[in-house]
Amino acid sequence: MSEFTHIPVMMNEVLQGLKLHDGGLYVDCTMGGAGHSEAILKNCDCRLIAIDQDDEAIAAGTKRLAPYGDRKQIVRSNFSKLAEIGQELGIIGQVDGILMDIGVSSHQLDTAERGFSYMHDAPLDMRMDKSSEFSAYDIVNGYSVEELTKVLYTYGEEKWSKRIAEFIVEARNKKNIETTFELTEIIKAAIPVGAREKDQHPARRSFQALRIEVNQELAVLEKAIDAAVGLLKPGGRLVIISFHSLEDRIVKERFRYLALDCICPPEFPVCRCSKKQEVKIITRKPLVPTKDEEEINPRSRSSKLRIAEKI
Ligand SMILES: C[S@@+](CC[C@H](N)C(=O)[O-])C[C@H]1O[C@@H](n2cnc3c(N)ncnc32)[C@H](O)[C@@H]1O
Repeated sequence: MSEFTHIPVMMNEVLQGLKLHDGGLYVDCTMGGAGHSEAILKNCDCRLIAIDQDDEAIAAGTKRLAPYGDRKQIVRSNFSKLAEIGQELGIIGQVDGILMDIGVSSHQLDTAERGFSYMHDAPLDMRMDKSSEFSAYDIVNGYSVEELTKVLYTYGEEKWSKRIAEFIVEARNKKNIETTFELTEIIKAAIPVGAREKDQHPARRSFQALRIEVNQELAVLEKAIDAAVGLLKPGGRLVIISFHSLEDRIVKERFRYLALDCICPPEFPVCRCSKKQEVKIITRKPLVPTKDEEEINPRSRSSKLRIAEKI
């Protein structure tokens, strides 16, 4: 495995947002290269549970967090199973702070053979969890024009989604599409040169969309937020960094729902629902990286950070 390189995003905002304190118990649901995880362990005398679904992240995090002995526990899993993990570890209602830094790591993007990037030629893959049997290959060679169009349009906001989908199906009728560069060429052919976005690779949106579909990144988020709130103790904080407007919308809307004390229709004279407010929203607007951070780490550019506190 190549060295794990990933610059953690909005570090100060994360550490402050989690309200770190000695004796606390924290959960990092997306350990990646363990940049945030290590900073949590360094900044207070706490315990940390660090989760990731990617074997390479688990290997890198295990090495990096080794000096922290039994203050840390590393779990290889999908954070969609957060409620089960919490149950197994006996930490329901016990956690002081939870971090989700969702999306892909620089290491995943930059490791050519994982097939995440249109910049490297590799088999179509994009699985964060290599034990999963579903990869970008299955989508590109198996989805119908309608299904492909929907994925590219919804997750990539790709204006040319239908045309790209048609070009993909036409190409694969001759021979299966095996590699990232084969796919990139098909996408390039589908988007007229004059219509391409300035300073953007024509395959960027489609690759993002395929990655989100392969890893079901949006589908697991809402359930994971609810499970995270279940793990927190009163006053515990949930900090979420997202990189995609659809992810941020899910976070914003779920926080809003969890912050409501009643969901009865307005015409009801008295409340008849059993909804109780579970969190208070700390960030009315999402925090974004400073200009300095964006310059040092251009990949931080689209990130947004939201915080909720369990009541
Ligand atoms: C942006 S990186 C996190 C980087 C990390 N905060 C650091 O400081 O190095 C996202 C990581 O989350 C993992 N990940 C994404 N979705 C996940 C999920 N549903 N369950 C578990 N891990 C996930 C990815 O495998 C990746 O390693």
